[in-house]
Amino acid sequence: MRIQGKVAVITGASQGIGAACAAALRERGARLVLTARRKEKLEQAGGPEAVVVAGDITEEQTRARLVEAALANFGAIDILINNAGAGLYERTWETSPERARALFELNFFAPLDLIRRVVPHMRARRSGVIVNISSIAGKVTLPWLPLYSVSKSALEALSNALRMELMPEGVRAMTVCPGYVITGFRENALTGRPPRGVEESGAFRITARECAAAVVRGLERDARTVVTPPAGWPLAWAARLFPSLVERRLSAMLHAAEDGS
Ligand SMILES: NC(=O)c1ccc[n+]([C@@H]2O[C@H](COP(=O)([O-])OP(=O)(O)OC[C@H]3O[C@@H](n4cnc5c(N)ncnc54)[C@H](OP(=O)(O)O)[C@@H]3O)[C@@H](O)[C@H]2O)c1
Repeated sequence: MRIQGKVAVITGASQGIGAACAAALRERGARLVLTARRKEKLEQAGGPEAVVVAGDITEEQTRARLVEAALANFGAIDILINNAGAGLYERTWETSPERARALFELNFFAPLDLIRRVVPHMRARRSGVIVNISSIAGKVTLPWLPLYSVSKSALEALSNALRMELMPEGVRAMTVCPGYVITGFRENALTGRPPRGVEESGAFRITARECAAAVVRGLERDARTVVTPPAGWPLAWAARLFPSLVERRLSAMLHAAEDGS
């Protein structure tokens, strides 16, 4: 896809990966529609020409306003980046049903509802791409982020389903699986913090700018899946080919970190 002049709707664009995607797409001449809860941060991220819709993305009203604003201002949506999301560092059985639902409202149901609202417009124009920002945790279940991993696996499966459903209609779906991106993600988790040492391997660590550059490259190359940094691929393949081995290793990392803290 050529990005120049395309209309990109980005959720969670006030900081981190979303703000970096806004900057990278703006540099390539995209027209931006940005959302998150903090208006001033969105205005900073998007510059004077961006359309900004402030609100909580888990509220239906925010999602409706977002799509309406994009269509009213630009008449089309070419790229939807479902990026807003949060972590949850808590044992599966200790997570309250309310917190598990809140996680899924943000990481899964908000993207699903935006897709429901945007896909009919893309189908009518026989063009467009849905980008779902998943995680390496969607490919390899991380035991210190269990329900988060479940939510990202669901998001990845949703991208796969959409891709097959929309294949004959010129509308695409791309999954992005970042490793460790240096953002406010850990401080902004719905609850808990990573046990010391488990997420600190340099091999998976990138900046938000590097992550956004990978998203843009993926868009330009019509990629199916972007794993960034690429060091995540061997881990994803190992988890698929040798699941028992990888599970034993990740479990050992979790328990060693907890014993040490
Ligand atoms: N950082 C990583 O290591 C990493 C790795 C893999 C995947 N990811 C994924 O990448 C995405 C972005 O994460 P990040 O690292 O950039 O995290 P971040 O720095 O915490 O940014 C999260 C963004 O989401 C917005 N947001 C959160 N809750 C929201 C809500 N209820 N309504 C509207 N906006 C909301 C925040 O804006 P406001 O606070 O202004 O609302 C912010 O712009 C997430 O889906 C995350 O799961 C991150």
